[in-house]
Amino acid sequence: MNPPAKVAVAMDTPLEETALGWVRDLSRYAGAFKVGPVLFHAAPSIVERVKERDRLLFLDLKLHDIPSVINLAIRGLSGRGVDRITIHLSGGEEMAAAAVDGGGEDLLPIGVTVLTSLSPPVWERFSGQRIEDSVSRMVEMGWRAGIREFVCSGNEVSALKKAFPHGVFWVPGIRFPGDDGGDQKRVSTPQEVLDAGADWLVIGRSLTSVSVPKARSRLLSLLDAG
Ligand code: C5P
Repeated sequence: MNPPAKVAVAMDTPLEETALGWVRDLSRYAGAFKVGPVLFHAAPSIVERVKERDRLLFLDLKLHDIPSVINLAIRGLSGRGVDRITIHLSGGEEMAAAAVDGGGEDLLPIGVTVLTSLSPPVWERFSGQRIEDSVSRMVEMGWRAGIREFVCSGNEVSALKKAFPHGVFWVPGIRFPGDDGGDQKRVSTPQEVLDAGADWLVIGRSLTSVSVPKARSRLLSLLDAG
């Protein structure tokens, strides 16, 4: 078996035992496990327990606050086994730089651009900009602040990878053909996202709401495809 690569399993459940079951059943095929606010607030000890499996731990709290608070919040999380923490790039360059400083060598901030649950018309009405323009401006700004890893949708990743070949791009909003999109609006298939050059596929319900054998065979198909 090759070392697992490219897939982060999004564990959006308040039940620690359920999440640990996903870690146990899928860690052979996944390189990272993503803990969001639902799980972290219900069971913060999940962090240590995922690390026992020696996989990358991605804490997806999508922090958005003034720079001094962001700096202290991320500083407080470093050294606890968390490898990545998300911040909203809409918080601005100074906030992004404060996140980089707070994490130091140990905890890298990932800059979230425009949520994959937002559609182009909704974003344009709100911001007056096309999503792809907003996303690339956010990444440029984050890069200036020292951020090197970003979350974007499958629609934007190919252009971003060309503009920032040394950036690391995590792509959620992924659905296998035929799966329900749910609340996600900018959705892509795993193959589309791999072809577009994503570094990491962030997949939740398409793995966690199907049977374990189906989730494993889906992950195996991605390892083959990548
Ligand atoms: O279940 P699904 O595959 O839609 O889950 C996607 C995961 O990625 C969720 O945990 C969500 O919080 C996260 N995410 C996202 N869009 C972003 C950033 C993170 O869907 N822009």
